[in-house]
Amino acid sequence: MARTLWLVGMMGAGKSAVGKRLAQRLGRAFIDTDALVEDVAGKSVAAIFADEGEPSFRALERAAIERVAGRPAIVALGGGAIAQPGAVARLAASGTIVYLRARPETLLARIGDARGRPLLAGLDTAGRLARMRELLRARAAQYARSARVVDVDEGDIDAVADRVLQVLGDAAEQQGRAMRAVQVPLGDRSYAIRIGVDILDQAGAAIAESSGARRAVVVTVPEVGRRYGARLERSLRGAGIQSRRVVVADGERSKSLRVVARLYEEMLDFDADRGTAVVALGGGVVGDLAGFLAATFLRGVPFVQVPTTMLAMADASVGGKVAVDLPRGKNLVGAFHQPRLVWMDVATLRSLPRRQRANGLVEVIKHGVIRDGALFARFERDIERVLDLETDPTLDVLERSCQIKAEVVAQDEREADLRMILNFGHTLAHAIETLLGFRKLLHGEAVAIGMVFAARRSEALGLAPTGVADRIESLLQRAGLPTEPPDLPRRAYLDALRVDKKRRDEQVRFIAVRELGKAEIVSLTPAEILPRGGPGTRRR
Ligand SMILES: NC(=O)c1ccc[n+]([C@@H]2O[C@H](COP(=O)([O-])OP(=O)(O)OC[C@H]3O[C@@H](n4cnc5c(N)ncnc54)[C@H](O)[C@@H]3O)[C@@H](O)[C@H]2O)c1
Ligand SMILES: [Zn+2]
Repeated sequence: MARTLWLVGMMGAGKSAVGKRLAQRLGRAFIDTDALVEDVAGKSVAAIFADEGEPSFRALERAAIERVAGRPAIVALGGGAIAQPGAVARLAASGTIVYLRARPETLLARIGDARGRPLLAGLDTAGRLARMRELLRARAAQYARSARVVDVDEGDIDAVADRVLQVLGDAAEQQGRAMRAVQVPLGDRSYAIRIGVDILDQAGAAIAESSGARRAVVVTVPEVGRRYGARLERSLRGAGIQSRRVVVADGERSKSLRVVARLYEEMLDFDADRGTAVVALGGGVVGDLAGFLAATFLRGVPFVQVPTTMLAMADASVGGKVAVDLPRGKNLVGAFHQPRLVWMDVATLRSLPRRQRANGLVEVIKHGVIRDGALFARFERDIERVLDLETDPTLDVLERSCQIKAEVVAQDEREADLRMILNFGHTLAHAIETLLGFRKLLHGEAVAIGMVFAARRSEALGLAPTGVADRIESLLQRAGLPTEPPDLPRRAYLDALRVDKKRRDEQVRFIAVRELGKAEIVSLTPAEILPRGGPGTRRR
């Protein structure tokens, strides 16, 4: 057991007795949050309730939890702690929650006269039983949902402690199974991608090991920093890394030389040297920006990606492409700078809006279309479960996506044919983005439209069997993604295609799908890509 063991349950469930016994047997500290609160307040829990009311007790309790979270201790929590907003996530993030479950009769028998138990004060025996049932009704379901359950009605303290240890062993095993690893093989610049659920608190040790850094600058955006910054920083501190958070404004506009210049100043203010790591905590914008900073500051410092969007996990954080934009175009100034580690905590995606999740999956679905028919079929089976972030399907598709990207990167680190097929769906997507000015659609949404279009063209040119485009379209629609090109004049599309940067003479390199799982580069003129009846004229 590496992290905190949180014991929850009603008064009388034996949290203290069992907790102390576990502490002895594991050689760990036992902490009772009520006792911590009483220490701080200088009076008993009952007195705090009576004098100041429950809200002020809860505030003290929250502070006590913050103080011990992540310590390798056995911590008994007050009966109502877990019912507080945000508590479950906080507790689960720093350890394992075990619910000591007992029947109301067992609880009352153990409590005795209930002195010092404010929630039962002033009641007779029947009243206490009724109150206990009511409290259980309010809390038991939540306990059982958020924790691993150990029944305590039968057996002595040692028997209960045995059961808790059994449950902890299972939990550790599950955790181990849940964590996925993908290696990006690039000789002495090889690195690991780790994918798991609620693993942010373990990032520090992995960052320390992979980067060798003792100091780090964490680059993030306000929303992400507020939600996840403190946990990452606590984890870094726990691993002996001193860190500083640098927050940039949200959005693509932060991928600019002006912001990079400010970040250089922040690095200097922090006395950063060549051993100072840059950690990107956020989506693809933060990854590209922080990566560019890491690639160029002092000719390169260690870089770590902690992606928090589906897009960054599935795509942007792997491969070492880093860049900022110029006023005249995206990603015009950049470098290849591989990270030392990519740490993906899928739990951070829970706060990501569904539209962003779907947007980020598009390039993974694209991997399925161009390289991996089985992955495509997996999406056809499970797209809704992935959007809901169910553990197994989500880890599976992210792992597969990272493997594919790692293979591509390893075989061909710099842009060439293999990387080229990753541009499937992008010819039209870029045209749409140019025409709509990047505002109305997210990139993945434009690519979704472009993929369906490219598949339809592949069918029409006799390169793909009929039906491929329909399957791609219906999958994307299930994810809530757009698949119809905006109704703009064909002339406008043609002009946009001609300025596409992949233009070769008049020919445009167009990625065609041959079957689900296989793609090919063909050279076509813009007019062949966009025959009459294509986007710009109504088709149905
Ligand atoms: N380097 C590459 O290989 C590569 C590949 C693809 C895309 N990109 C780049 O990635 C960028 C787009 O990345 P993106 O789609 O992640 O955009 P983003 O970084 O702007 O994130 C999208 C939005 O989600 C918010 N957000 C991030 N994490 C969140 C979380 N866990 N909970 C709630 N909100 C969260 C962000 O604040 C932002 O508003 C573009 O700049 C693109 O050029 C790079
Ligand atoms: Zn793309």
